[in-house]
Amino acid sequence: MKLEEPQEVLLLGPGPSPIHPRVLKAMSWNTLGHLDPEFIEIMNEAKELLKYVFETKNQVTLPISATGSAGMEAALVNILEPGDKAVICVNGVFGTRMADVASRCGAQVIEVEADWGSPIEPDDVKKALEANDDVKIVGIVHAETSTGVLQPLEQIVELAHQNGALIVVDTVTSLGGIPVSVDARELDVVYSGTQKCLSCPPGLAPLTLNEKALSVFRFRKNVVQSWYLDLTMLTRYWGEERFYHHTAPINMIYALYEALSIIREEGLQERFKRHKLNSKALVNGFEALGLQMLTSEPYRLPSLHAVKIPDGISDADVRKKLRADYRIEIGGGLGPFKGNIWRVGLMGHGSQKENVNRLIKALGEIMQPMGYNCSIEEALSAVSRTYQ
Ligand SMILES: Cc1ncc(COP(=O)(O)O)c(C=O)c1O
Repeated sequence: MKLEEPQEVLLLGPGPSPIHPRVLKAMSWNTLGHLDPEFIEIMNEAKELLKYVFETKNQVTLPISATGSAGMEAALVNILEPGDKAVICVNGVFGTRMADVASRCGAQVIEVEADWGSPIEPDDVKKALEANDDVKIVGIVHAETSTGVLQPLEQIVELAHQNGALIVVDTVTSLGGIPVSVDARELDVVYSGTQKCLSCPPGLAPLTLNEKALSVFRFRKNVVQSWYLDLTMLTRYWGEERFYHHTAPINMIYALYEALSIIREEGLQERFKRHKLNSKALVNGFEALGLQMLTSEPYRLPSLHAVKIPDGISDADVRKKLRADYRIEIGGGLGPFKGNIWRVGLMGHGSQKENVNRLIKALGEIMQPMGYNCSIEEALSAVSRTYQ
């Protein structure tokens, strides 16, 4: 059976996010050989654009040929060796995953926990660092997609550095939508994914390491356990030498190049402002509908909103209707929040006024016949007032 091309669904979930038409077009450019001089130019330009978006001068800044989880794995597997101590901050799904990956690297993992929906307390990181000598890394998620928490980084970075540890940061749901500022914040190892605020399909994981992290990597005692993610070979492939390592996913690199070009055209600061404004409008709309946010300011992400599902409303019924009747996708809760929250993304190209209005109106229209008392008109005027 030949399947039809899927019609558009407005992707307002936790990722993937809506793709800019220019990015989809770039994906259909002619496939070149992976060592073709024209392709190499595109690779070089993509690296420079990644430095712009990460706000770094780091020489080693490249996209790993796999999704965000491979970015996490590459960051950890290149730095950690069996027996190393790793303090990993856990307040949601992705911190939990980071702890799992670190322990698979053979590291002794010391978890610093916070309730899901709350940020990690610097004091708890301090206690963990005081109780353990020779910690090699502190790993933390900047934007926890499972709960919508924006993690302040400054104090935790300082604590890590004071204790001689590298800071490893997951920016999968922040890069391109919220300032990551790698150099200004002195972040040592940072990874991301293409499918969120970069508005590129899933498939690549931007990664950057500073000189301090590279010197730790260069003085490893053991060979990196993963052949595919070993930076020794990846940097030779992405560097001057062009030493064959694997065949880069050519058309995905075109997509990344175009997505990053769009970001540079818009300007990072403008993009951050846009994400903030549309997020504020969405929250105002939710609150005017009588919905409650899971997280409060200043810990609320502008790229991913966790909103509580009101009593008596079925998570599955609402999301099914949104998809079927309005062609909008939003996400459900994970772990302890399954069935209790919706996760609404306004990421990259998806962070638009029109999308905010469309979702607020649709949610109101779906929930009213389910017995939920709200005024769609008031919610839409709350959204519109945000833009005045
Ligand atoms: C914070 C965070 N880290 C890591 C990942 C893993 O990325 P991927 O699903 O692209 O492998 C995700 C995906 O949602 C994420 O939100």
